Amino acid sequence: MNNIPESQLGEDSLSTEKLIISALEIQHRISELTNQIGADYEGKDILVIAVLKGAFMFAADFVRRLQKLGLNIEIDFIKASSYGAQTESSKEVRIDLDITSSVSDKNVLLLDDIIDTGHTISFLYQHLKSQSVKSLSTCVLLDKPNRRTVEFQVDYIGFEVPDLFVVGYGLDYNERFRCLPDISHID
Ligand code: IMP
Ligand code: MG
Repeated sequence: MNNIPESQLGEDSLSTEKLIISALEIQHRISELTNQIGADYEGKDILVIAVLKGAFMFAADFVRRLQKLGLNIEIDFIKASSYGAQTESSKEVRIDLDITSSVSDKNVLLLDDIIDTGHTISFLYQHLKSQSVKSLSTCVLLDKPNRRTVEFQVDYIGFEVPDLFVVGYGLDYNERFRCLPDISHID
């Protein structure tokens, strides 16, 4: 696979100039994050709820690291989308697919790919909070702080990124680029 001219790469390959976070940097940061979470949750069980589709790859690496630290992990998924967006601040969030586990009396960790305006994670946070969880915290791989229209404090953040559209490692543009191992930006 080495030395293939760029013109022969598949359409979902991006030129390296646009790379912002490499696969190696992602793994390194996930290891730091999970070490911190492992210490914060010592002796506790965690139900990780990953937001589909964007967080699927992050979740897979994240739970494997947590497992290695000896924590008991359960995993579930929730799928959300924003709609009716006349403006960024009027975005509404809809749950397309809900969790199947009971969150009652559990330590829940909500995991998403990115916090942008803040609508998605704050909506999902309220949705879970209302179901008598024992504790609820949030973790996102990427944070675009300049784009926030809803105030929301995320507990664990992987990387801050500038106000650029980013793809790869689960994140898509019209369903493309999700399976790239690195995070890049597109125009
Ligand atoms: P929100 O604006 O914080 O509600 O983010 C909504 C969702 O938009 C995120 O969960 C992502 O799936 C998606 N999103 C926001 N910014 C980007 C981006 O730069 N690339 C890909 N998806 C994004
Ligand atoms: Mg998402």
